[in-house]
Amino acid sequence: MDYNELLEKAKKASENSYSPYSNFPVGACVLMESGKTYIGTNVENSSFGATICAERSAIVNAIVNGERKIVAIAIYGPKMKRCAPCGVCRQVMNDFRSDKGIDIILEDENGQPEVHTIDELLPLGFDL
Ligand code: THU
Repeated sequence: MDYNELLEKAKKASENSYSPYSNFPVGACVLMESGKTYIGTNVENSSFGATICAERSAIVNAIVNGERKIVAIAIYGPKMKRCAPCGVCRQVMNDFRSDKGIDIILEDENGQPEVHTIDELLPLGFDL
């Protein structure tokens, strides 16, 4: 799948963000080995620690639908260029990595997809 398209889906998902506390919407879209995509957005909570990030919400959406292996994930935050995933989300992604790893797609300052990898963003990731 074209990474522009994956980023567009992440953008669209950010419109559904529930982020009344931070006012920082984020959207994500995972591309699975099956070729299917699943969107996610951040869902905050009045008990702040219960907040779920957009990336994990997309991954949970995929897993619930019987998927297991992530090929790529696009992340978009309208208020920040290169909205990079938090450490917890990097570890959660890593647990569902495909045999070829995971491409992590961020939007660069020109609005173009910028490709990183899970091995670049999570060196020596824990793997049980
Ligand atoms: N957030 C994400 O959804 N993904 C990230 O990679 C960084 C942070 C959310 C969590 C919270 O709702 C808001 O952004 C501010 O931290």
